[in-house]
Amino acid sequence: MSMFAQKSIQIIATGLIALSLSATAAAADKTLYERLGGKPALQAVVGELWTVVAADARINGRFKHTKPEAFGGQLVEFLCQGAGGPCQYKGKDMKTAHTGMMLTDAEFTALAEDTTKALNKFKVPAKEQSEVIGLLASLKGDVVNR
Ligand code: HEM
Repeated sequence: MSMFAQKSIQIIATGLIALSLSATAAAADKTLYERLGGKPALQAVVGELWTVVAADARINGRFKHTKPEAFGGQLVEFLCQGAGGPCQYKGKDMKTAHTGMMLTDAEFTALAEDTTKALNKFKVPAKEQSEVIGLLASLKGDVVNR
C-alpha cells in the first residue's frame, strides 16, 4: 500500500474514533453542525469541495454530467442533517444514490482527501475535521461497491 493510502486510512480511522468519542460527550455539547458554523459554513465548504473535485483527475470524470447547484444543495442538506443540524435531507439514501457506479476504495479516498482540502481552506479545526471525515467514513460501506 502506498504511504498516501496508508495515511488516508489513518485519517479516516482517527475520524471514526473522534466520532465515537463525541457521541458519548455530554448532551449539552454543541452539535458538529453548530461548531462548523451552520449552513453558511457548510455551503462554503461544499462550494470549495466542488472546485477541488473538478480539478481532481482521479474522480472528476464521475461528475461530468452533474449540475453543481442541485448536487451541492443535496450535499449540504445531507451533511447538515448528518452533523446534527436542523435539516431534512430528502434525496436518495447513500446506497441507492451510488448503486451501480462501482465506486472504488481509491475514489472514496480521493473524495475524503478533497474534503480535507476544502475544510483546510476554511481553517476548520482538527477535531471538527475528524468528525466530518468520520461521518463520511461511516458511510463508506454504502458508497463503495467494489
Ligand atoms: C461518504 C461519501 C459520500 C457522500 C456523503 C455522498 C453524498 C452524495 C449525495 C448526497 C448525493 C445526491 C443524491 C441525490 O441527489 O439523491 C450523491 C450523488 C452522487 N455521488 Fe456521492 N457521496 C459520497 C461519495 C461519493 C464518491 C466517492 C463519489 C465518486 C468519486 C461520488 C459520486 C457521486 C455521483 C456521481 C453522484 C450523482 C450526482 C448527480 O446527480 O449527477 N460520491 N452523493
